[in-house]
Amino acid sequence: METLVGSRDDLYPTCRKLIEFNGEKVIVGMLRNGELYAVADACPHHGASIFMGAEVNNCLVCPWHFWHIDVRTGDVAGWGRNRPPRYELTERDGNVYLSMANQFS
Ligand code: FES
Repeated sequence: METLVGSRDDLYPTCRKLIEFNGEKVIVGMLRNGELYAVADACPHHGASIFMGAEVNNCLVCPWHFWHIDVRTGDVAGWGRNRPPRYELTERDGNVYLSMANQFS
């Protein structure tokens, strides 16, 4: 299952979109370095929205208690937790699509 995020041309460094996907809110955005990412809009600590969090070193900073969530992996930076990526972005025909990632790759 996949869903259309939008045109690749509409995405630019630091932009973020909130997508409803598979019953969850997912942030799709672009880091300052131009890398696209998709991460759940739920902090692994107590579930706060990280959509408005500052971008620091490829992480979004949770506004509640300032945990740093690495948007490329979903890991909490500095905690050594390995969480497999949960979402995947695919570019095709000028558009970006969001899908579930393989949990075991
Ligand atoms: S809810 Fe995000 S750090 Fe506590």
